Amino acid sequence: MSSLGLTAAHPTPHPTIDLSELGEPDLVAQMELARLPRHIAVIMDGNGRWARRRRLPRLAGHRAGASAVHEIVETGSRLHLKALTLFAFSTENWKRPQTEISTLMSLLREYLRKELAEIHRNNIRLQILGRYEQLPVEVRQDLDDAMRITSGNTGMVLNVALNYSARSEMVDTIQSIIARVQRGELRAEDVTERTVSENLSTGGLPDPDLLIRTSGEMRVSNFLLWQIAYADIYVTETCWPDFTRRHLLEAIIDFQKRERRYGGLGEHGA
Ligand code: IPE
Ligand code: IPE
Ligand code: MG
Repeated sequence: MSSLGLTAAHPTPHPTIDLSELGEPDLVAQMELARLPRHIAVIMDGNGRWARRRRLPRLAGHRAGASAVHEIVETGSRLHLKALTLFAFSTENWKRPQTEISTLMSLLREYLRKELAEIHRNNIRLQILGRYEQLPVEVRQDLDDAMRITSGNTGMVLNVALNYSARSEMVDTIQSIIARVQRGELRAEDVTERTVSENLSTGGLPDPDLLIRTSGEMRVSNFLLWQIAYADIYVTETCWPDFTRRHLLEAIIDFQKRERRYGGLGEHGA
């Protein structure tokens, strides 16, 4: 039994879910089921602005933001995404006041306590991206338990980026590749784009097809720089605490209307 009160017994297999169970039939009808994104990444931004507009403290915005995560994870899993990656805390976020940082860490622990049983039941595998060892010990213990419990799950991978920045991830990746070369496991001339992809913390997963940023900023803020090379970017003015299943489905519908050309000429080229 873990500190989170669960065992690692494997859950019942995830049944094939009929999308009608998602609700929102008007939006579901507009989605092309054969062309769903495989991996969606989300920069969950705007908790502070959400609170300020309501004359509430920033911490209330973070609490509301944590509550918004449940519906998006559940929807991603029902859509059978291969991966959903959520940016929860960046290496730059340590610059914030200590009270805000400790609230964010407590909210993360509270999220795991409330949600882990359902995450496990839905066959979701939890992974952490980022420099994990620098997180507070009690947070790491809960995350370790949650990752161990869900490690055999075969459904959606839920990546939570914590103490994450894409540049620090790239430095760690370069170092691990150099170490493999030094041990004689790999020749320097055999290092390819694939080697890099496989040694990132998202190794083994498809790159995100769709990157969503809430609350309107047109920037990437050091998130998944390698992996989003060809991602479609969807920025919405909606602040993260207000982002619901409907907003996610709208983002997917918008993504499906775009033509992905990967540098070629696409359908209208010839
Ligand atoms: C996102 O909301 C949450 C984290 C970065 C942890 P913000 O706290 O950045 O909210 P804004 O950008 O100030 O509105
Ligand atoms: C990005 O949001 C990080 C997370 C959502 C965790 P920030 O609010 O930290 O990014 P900037 O400061 O607007 O670039
Ligand atoms: Mg922000």
